[in-house]
Amino acid sequence: MTAKLARYGVMGYPVSHSRSPIIHRLFALQTGQKIQYELLQVSPEKLEAAIRQFQRTGGMGLNITVPHKSEVCKLVDYTSERAATAGAVNTLSFKSGQIYGDNTDGVGLLRDLAVNLGIAIEGANILILGAGGATRGIVGPLLEMQPASLLIANRSLSKAQALADHFSHSGPVSACGFNVVPVSTTYDLVINATSAGLKGDSPPYPAAAISDATICYDLSYGLSPTPFSIWAREAGAARSIMGWGMLVEQAAESFNIWRGVRPDTAPVLKQMSISA
Ligand code: ATR
Repeated sequence: MTAKLARYGVMGYPVSHSRSPIIHRLFALQTGQKIQYELLQVSPEKLEAAIRQFQRTGGMGLNITVPHKSEVCKLVDYTSERAATAGAVNTLSFKSGQIYGDNTDGVGLLRDLAVNLGIAIEGANILILGAGGATRGIVGPLLEMQPASLLIANRSLSKAQALADHFSHSGPVSACGFNVVPVSTTYDLVINATSAGLKGDSPPYPAAAISDATICYDLSYGLSPTPFSIWAREAGAARSIMGWGMLVEQAAESFNIWRGVRPDTAPVLKQMSISA
């Protein structure tokens, strides 16, 4: 008799493009864990009912993706400190009728930067473009690594300023408008956390902030280069990287939370032919 597979999945809207099922299948094969991982397209008004049904029917954990990451916080019984700081949850675990919420995005980015790519955050001058949910999830973890400075540039200055104020007790963080990034600083790392590329927009990214020592990292990723990663190369950045590694690393952290086993991410990145 075959043992029943433990059920997991990813909920988003839309979600058909998600690579999470293939990543978790590769993790399960590698670690010998008996799981199934489903793709669940759920619109915002059906989110709560869908989560509760998944829980009721024996589901053990969910990844939560765009656009539900902050809304889902309201449904969680216990929130990890990093999820509370980020104001967003991307990993749910169902245990004894309770819902546990965590956020593995920040640690996923840090692991990709530090371990996979060998990029030092300590002492670095960092520029983040955008001040939405994605930025909120990464500012805390980045500040913990003690950069020299972290500037958040956003089209709506008030949103960047609110985030900078929120994190000001954690490190040297400041805000400016998207079009007025000061170029007196040499930026070691420029992170695109806007959703512009996803919507097919190409905003005027600040070319003067890029030197031949700057590493550009796009939280978005695609099978072909994203608009930001093309722009970064053309602007003369030392390296232009898409966020495949962050995607695989945040998934590995979720898998570890659920199964108590940390998969080796390197072969999975390779198997997906997207090695950074
Ligand atoms: P996410 O959760 O992916 O961060 P979000 O919360 O909707 O999504 O935030 C999207 C971010 O991308 C915002 O910082 C947004 O800028 P505004 O706050 O000014 O709206 C930014 N963004 C989206 N389209 C953009 C564009 N065309 N130019 C510049 N910034 C853009």
